[in-house]
Amino acid sequence: MNEPIFLQACRREPTPYTPVWLMRQAGRYMPEYRALRERVPFLTLCKTPDLAAQVTVDAVQRLGVDAAIIFADILLIVEPMGVGLEFSQGDGPVIHRPVRSGADVDRLRETPPAETVPFVFAAVRNARANLPSHIPLIGFSGAPFTVASYLIEGGSSRHYLETKKLMYQDPGAWHALMERLVRVIVAYMNGQIAAGAQAVQLFDSWIGCLSPADYQNFILPHMQTLFRKLTPGAPVIHFGTETAGLLELMAEAGGDVIGVDWRIDLDVAWRRIGFDRAVQGNLDPLVLFAPRDELRRQVARVLRCAGGRPGHIFNLGHGILPQTPVDNVIALVDMVREMSEKIVASYQ
Ligand code: CP3
Repeated sequence: MNEPIFLQACRREPTPYTPVWLMRQAGRYMPEYRALRERVPFLTLCKTPDLAAQVTVDAVQRLGVDAAIIFADILLIVEPMGVGLEFSQGDGPVIHRPVRSGADVDRLRETPPAETVPFVFAAVRNARANLPSHIPLIGFSGAPFTVASYLIEGGSSRHYLETKKLMYQDPGAWHALMERLVRVIVAYMNGQIAAGAQAVQLFDSWIGCLSPADYQNFILPHMQTLFRKLTPGAPVIHFGTETAGLLELMAEAGGDVIGVDWRIDLDVAWRRIGFDRAVQGNLDPLVLFAPRDELRRQVARVLRCAGGRPGHIFNLGHGILPQTPVDNVIALVDMVREMSEKIVASYQ
């Protein structure tokens, strides 16, 4: 029985080459996706399992990556909480009734994801059924802090002013909010695993705005609870950006694989995370706008930092930008395959 190489790498088993997939691999940089979005609004797409599964599978076929990620969004679980979610053209997500107080936290509705977002689980089942058996399907959720930042700010943010105000001024409300989000996120991720996701990624995209001390006090205990409650067996990827000050704490929180962005060298990051974990990363997504020889140099550098050690999953340090040329993305995937094969061969 041959396990898919992405899953082998998550378990730090040796692989014939370095598996690669890309955050936001299905999305607006692809003409097929843009054409579909002309007809279907983003939330409708997320809520139509056949279409979400098709977008998931198409991206894998187009790019030749080693894993699929289900087409969904980290904010789908907040809509049923009753805060009013909208994806407005150009402005990104908007939450109409942001959470700003303990009373607001208490008002958040908590309904099992099986009732509120059954379309995500259906999309997972559908995508799994339509993917080749050697391509694992990754499920995902936002992490409590990152989801909370949208709930509290009402959208994307620069300084996380309202988020940190709630955290510092009303720690009771903060911890109550974290506990509530942990319960929903655990049910949401376990639901995806039950539906056929073979690995799950927790996106703590904006966690890097916190100091290590604040992570320890306001985040770490909740993350530890979350990781403890996930269904064993499916590897968990713990991802964040601007986390150079937090890597040890993120590893302490949990995760089989720690996601690393480009602001730190992968070898330095891996040493700090510990070699008892796998790592994922860490090319700057903007390198996809560089000429081929520069792209090649930078891919080689990431692979050199990983040093042929089992347990590296190649990825970007954050998602692909919508302006990215598709050909460069395909070239990247091909380069990782070709160059890492040679590196592995040279270690044998
Ligand atoms: O291919 C994939 O990676 C799967 C799909 C996916 C989406 N969102 C689809 C999407 C994933 C994994 C996400 C995660 C997500 N969503 C994150 C964490 C990842 C990260 O980039 O840090 C965050 C912070 C969100 C919240 C979100 N959703 C924002 C801020 C935006 C607007 C900005 C943007 O990139 O457009 C979205 C919208 C969104 N989510 C789109 C897609 C394809 C674009 C919507 C469109 O088609 O117009």
